[in-house]
Parts: sequence; C-alpha cells; structure tokens
Amino acid sequence: MKKDTVSIIDNSTGREEEFPLLKGTLGTPTAEIGTLNKKLGIFTFDPGFMATASCKSAITYIDGDQGVLLYRGYPIDQLAKNSSFLEVAYLLMNGDLPTETELYAFVKEINQHSMLHEALRGFFDGFHYDAHPMAMMVGVVGSLSAFYHSELDMNDPEHRRISAMRMLAKIPTIAAASYRHSVGWPFVYPRLDLEYCENFMNMMFSLPAQKFIDEGHYIDPVTVKALNLLFILHADHEQNASTSTVRLASSTGANPYACISAGIGALWGPAHGGANEAVLSMLAEIGSADKIPEYIAKAKDKNDPFRLMGFGHRVYKNFDPRATIIRETCHEVLEKASMDNDPLFELALALEEYALKDEYFIEKKLYPNVDFYSGIIYKALNIPVDMFTVMFVIARTAGWVSHWLEMMAEPSHRIGRPRQLYTGQPRRDYMDIDKRK
Ligand code: SDX
Repeated sequence: MKKDTVSIIDNSTGREEEFPLLKGTLGTPTAEIGTLNKKLGIFTFDPGFMATASCKSAITYIDGDQGVLLYRGYPIDQLAKNSSFLEVAYLLMNGDLPTETELYAFVKEINQHSMLHEALRGFFDGFHYDAHPMAMMVGVVGSLSAFYHSELDMNDPEHRRISAMRMLAKIPTIAAASYRHSVGWPFVYPRLDLEYCENFMNMMFSLPAQKFIDEGHYIDPVTVKALNLLFILHADHEQNASTSTVRLASSTGANPYACISAGIGALWGPAHGGANEAVLSMLAEIGSADKIPEYIAKAKDKNDPFRLMGFGHRVYKNFDPRATIIRETCHEVLEKASMDNDPLFELALALEEYALKDEYFIEKKLYPNVDFYSGIIYKALNIPVDMFTVMFVIARTAGWVSHWLEMMAEPSHRIGRPRQLYTGQPRRDYMDIDKRK
C-alpha cells in the first residue's frame, strides 16, 4: 500500500528509517528529514541547495520545466498585462488582489511613507561621488533602523506591517537619492500626487532649473507602463539567493531593515541581480554580431571564466517567462525612444538566436533569463547602467518584505543554522613556534 513517506537506508550500517513525504498545493514533494541526524546519525549534503526546500511558502510558485511563474496563484503574464506594481506588491504581501478601497488605502499609505528622515540625507555626503549606487543602497537601507527604533518589536504584527510598508515606500526614494548623489544633483522629494513609478522617475530626473515646458518628459505613459511591468516581473521569485538571505537574517530576529540590506548585498552579485548590469557590459564588449561566435566559444570553454551573462537559470530549464515578456516590451519602449533599431537590442536578439541554436546551450538548457533584456529597456529609459541592479532592488523589495512577513508570522519559525561536512584536520595539539618546521 502506497504511503506518503520516504525510506532512507544507510548501507554502511544497514539501518533504515522512514520520513514523511510532504506534498504542497503544486510542485515537487519534499521529504521532511529534520530528524535524520537523530534517527540515522547522518546529515544531507546539498551545497547550492540544488534539491533542498528551506521553508513552506504560499507566495510564489515556479515550475522550471514548464516556464510557469505564479504570484499567489496568478500567472505572471496576466499580472504583467493587467496589474500595476503596487497592486502586485499588495497581492504578494497580503495574499489576495485588493479591492478598490484597499488599493486606494495601500497606495495612500505608501505615498505617506515615501519621505526619508532629513538626517539621512547627510549619510549620502559620506559616500564618494563615484561610489557604486548598490554600495549606497546597502549602507543607507541598513541604517534605517536607527530612525525607526520605536516600531521594531518583531513580535508585534502592526510593527511588522508598518516596517514592511516603510521599506517598500522608501526604497525608490533612497534609490533615486543614490543616483542624484552620484551625479551631484540636489535630491528631489517624493510627491503625493504621483504614482509610484512616476514618483521614482521624477525623483531621478527632475531638475530645479528645468523649464516648465520640459517638465515631466521623463514621465510619459510608455515609460510608466514599462517600469510597472519591469517591477512586476522582478517583484518575487520564490527562494532565490537574496530572498533566502533575507529569510536567514530574519530568522535571528534581526530588524527588517538590516535583513533587507543583507538581501541587497546578495542580489548585487553578477550571478544574481548584478547580471543585468553585466549583460550590458558583455554586449558592449562583444560589440558586433560578427564577434558572437568568438564569445559563444569563450562561454563554452571550461578554462575560460567567461559566462554568457543573462543566460541560464537554476530553476528555469525551458524558458524564463519573464524574459519572453520583457523582450516583447523592448520593441514598444525602443520605438517610443526612437531607438527601434537600437544596435544593442539587435545584437542581443542576434546573440539569443545564435545561442539557442548551439548544441552546448541546448544540452545544458541555457535560455535567456529575466536579466538578459531588462537592461536594454532601462538604457532606453536613460537609467544609467550602474543603477540597473538598484532597479531590481526596488522591485524585489516587494518580494523580500512579503517573505519576511510570511516567515515572522509563522509561530514555529526557528533560527536557520545549516551544518557541514568537515574536511579539515583531525584533532592535534599546539606546537611551540621553535618546533615548527
Ligand atoms: C537571477 O534564483 C533565481 O530565481 C534568480 C532570479 C530571481 O528572479 O531572483 O531569477 C534572478 O539571478 C537570474 C540569473 C542571472 N545570472 C546570470 O545571468 C549569470 C549567468 N548565469 C550563470 O551564472 C548560471 O546560469 C546561474 C548562476 C544563473 C545558474 O547557475 P547554476 O544553476 O548553479 O548552474 P551551473 O552553474 O551549475 O551551470 C550548469 C552548467 C555548467 O556547466 P557544467 O559544469 O555542467 O559543464 O551550465 C553552464 C555551467 O558552466 N552554464 C553556463 C552558463 N550558465 C550555466 N555556461 C555559459 N554561460 C552561462 N551563462
């Protein structure tokens, strides 16, 4: 008779133990092996967590083989087509799409929290003008707890809720301030009359000396629609490296601002969110389509550290649905920016076409991921390349705070503390320096 269990036999001792097989709403069943060490005296070994579920979550579901991405059960293509970033943020944080009243209240509260404490402006003066904006993001976000210590009781659901709202509200303001500092422009305050993406673009590009007739050329419907779409597509992605970092930091009871700062640091890596910036550098280095074969060969060469940035994914082994949606949006944005024959976009399309026909990429199931095309749109929106990963931070903050809220509301959550396979020296005694060789 079939049972929802798995048996593990330790052939070195002949001992066998049974463990529960947990099944979720969708996706791969998981063996609950928390008692493995107690029952069989062994650990599992899974560096990179290729086959390890770190938690239960109801937020996002990915099917890597089918290219499926659901936010609280809603398919990403439907949300991309019909929703806005703040509506998706509400969905991720609260579990359901908001009513009109709920959305109005949510947007109003986000706008009310979008200002920074005036003393925070001084923090930016401590950064050199050419500091990478991601370095400023890590530092300034981590310092927010110094300003909101009155609402940091992590056992208080209202403190958790307001901290999450503050984080989502302030992240675009901090991001725009990082950019303004890097170009030596005065900071622009958020406005209560602007939509989230409009506010961000206004804080990024409006200038006090601007002629009125020029005002707002950077806030047009195509730009705002494209930004909402990009932020929706980047908002969450299950237990990716940066979200797992936020969860692990949060498991110690650290304040949410410190935990989000840790997530920002993890996202910065070129293997993760830093890839969108690396794609543009790679395309610039390749330069022209006739160089594509040379770079594809480098990407396949095991002795060459070069990888095709924006290609491959730990979970998607068919296609990244987000990349498909972004590629389609590129045409609209580039056309509006009268860059519809943008050489970078043409080169990206040629590189994708070449790679998808190459045996190596087919055999290893390497397809364009979310980062491959996003930079081309950001560039068309005049976002500087070193701000591309900051854009990812703004969007993923919705996912990070949602996972933080979900985890902190779970009474049984425990501190995350993995074990290891020790490969160091056996016990040995101290040796005086005159006896060492
Ligand atoms: C994101 O996890 C998420 O959900 C992340 C993300 C999110 O929304 O949070 O989707 C966002 O981070 C997207 C990924 C952005 N990174 C890049 O585009 C960087 C380039 N991609 C690779 O570094 C790599 O594909 C990863 C990091 C994305 C995935 O790495 P894995 O799953 O550990 O795969 P792997 O390194 O074990 O690669 C398997 C094989 C290897 O060859 P073999 O050792 O089997 O011979 O494929 C090769 C790799 O060498 N390979 C590549 C490649 N990616 C993998 N070869 C050339 N170019 C590449 N891009």
